[in-house]
Amino acid sequence: NEIKVFAPATIANLNCGFDLLGLCLDGIGDEMIFRKSSEKGLQITKISGANLPYEVENNVAGVAALALLNEVDIDFGIEMEIHKKLKLGSGIGSSSASAAGAVFGINELLGKPFTKKELVNFAMKGEVVASGSEHADNVAPCLLGGFTLVTGYNPLEVIRIDAPKDLFAVVLHPHIEVKTSDSRAVLKPEVSLKNAITQTGNLGGFVAGLYTSDYDLISRSLKDVLVEPYRKHLIPGFDKVKNAALENGALGSGISGAGPSIFALCKQKENAQKVAIAMEKAFSDTKISYDVHISEI
Ligand code: HSE
Repeated sequence: NEIKVFAPATIANLNCGFDLLGLCLDGIGDEMIFRKSSEKGLQITKISGANLPYEVENNVAGVAALALLNEVDIDFGIEMEIHKKLKLGSGIGSSSASAAGAVFGINELLGKPFTKKELVNFAMKGEVVASGSEHADNVAPCLLGGFTLVTGYNPLEVIRIDAPKDLFAVVLHPHIEVKTSDSRAVLKPEVSLKNAITQTGNLGGFVAGLYTSDYDLISRSLKDVLVEPYRKHLIPGFDKVKNAALENGALGSGISGAGPSIFALCKQKENAQKVAIAMEKAFSDTKISYDVHISEI
């Protein structure tokens, strides 16, 4: 038998929650197929949509899958097909979709021995291949859906937070590649106490806003003083696009994950459509091609 998996795109960080907050997007993601085989071990039998290694140990999906398979004893092999629709280095969790899709699909094939939260742990191991560090802010929303908050990494603890009604995400994806490892290399390992307080207050405010459907609080909290100042130069037109989103009524806007995608959160579909048009117009000055996606949360 065969298992087909859809692995959705995600927005990590959401301004105030670097490496902690994530959001699952709707209708945009990779496809993966899994089969049992008589030949033991894990094999990647097909890759489309991206130039990725077939060697399991060098492949994000392969490494995540092996982390899971090391914990089980099975007398058959597994074949995995990876059909990438999400561009690598896009900032909407392309590598995480591969890692999360791999562990989700294999878990289904094995009759679900692991919980979704356990799968997040395995998926994170694959993330290291792409970014050089273990973080769960893309793999967690990809596996759990909705908003997710990592409350600790040692041991990993993740909670899922239901979104308030009428929330929409707009993502503008410039067609340039920003490697997560490069985007992490520009960050400063130390932050000031003042900025840490501002960022922590905003993360608390954002989470409180989600739980109470307080859109004004969500909006005031969607700020990033720790990461955006260092990363925004990697993204052509960033300030213009963000300002266009805010001027047109978005609740907040910022870098999606490690970039180059730029996201905006909006209340109601009509506003998301208006914001998407304004972001496109602002970005078109760069002459770089792009695509835009609106997602209901
Ligand atoms: N939190 C991660 C980062 C997400 O911003 O580097 C991208 O993998």
